[in-house]
Amino acid sequence: MSNSNVVRAVCPGSFDPITYGHIDIISRAARLFDEVIVAVGTNTTKNYMFDVPERLRLTTAALADLSNVRVMKLGGLLVQFCEQLGARVIVKGLRFGTDFDYELQQHHLNSSLSPTDTVLLPGGRAWGTISSTMLRECAWNGADVSEFVPPEVHAAILAKVAEKM
Ligand code: PNS
Repeated sequence: MSNSNVVRAVCPGSFDPITYGHIDIISRAARLFDEVIVAVGTNTTKNYMFDVPERLRLTTAALADLSNVRVMKLGGLLVQFCEQLGARVIVKGLRFGTDFDYELQQHHLNSSLSPTDTVLLPGGRAWGTISSTMLRECAWNGADVSEFVPPEVHAAILAKVAEKM
């Protein structure tokens, strides 16, 4: 296949931290598209556990087995990032109805700014409703969240919680 036929998709998120729910969505996107760029960004309305370099490192390590997946830092507008990479597809995971309302609004905004389209993948049965926000809240309060994240991410969470004590 020549390069011009490569279908490149962008999977944006905060990934604070990356969970098995994210990994499921990204793995499935990697089977649907030629290349997937996982864009690690910052939502100005959120309080983060990990800074951008930490999130980039943990996300890259968690996805190392996926050969057509690259992890990059997302700065500025998502649609500009997509344009720079020649990606016209944005992939997001959909957990429940409230996600749909949010993603529909994002899609309308993004597609009015740039000719991108959005593909929404429903969460898988095993990890489909995990939320990094809830997971952080549990972890800060001492819960064991090891079943929801890869071992390296779990170790990083424990270190972060210990730092704050
Ligand atoms: O769903 P998340 O994890 O809060 O998403 C975070 C992120 C960084 C992907 C999102 O906030 C984003 O795309 N930020 C870039 C700025 C942007 O394009 N916002 C949407 C249109 S104003």
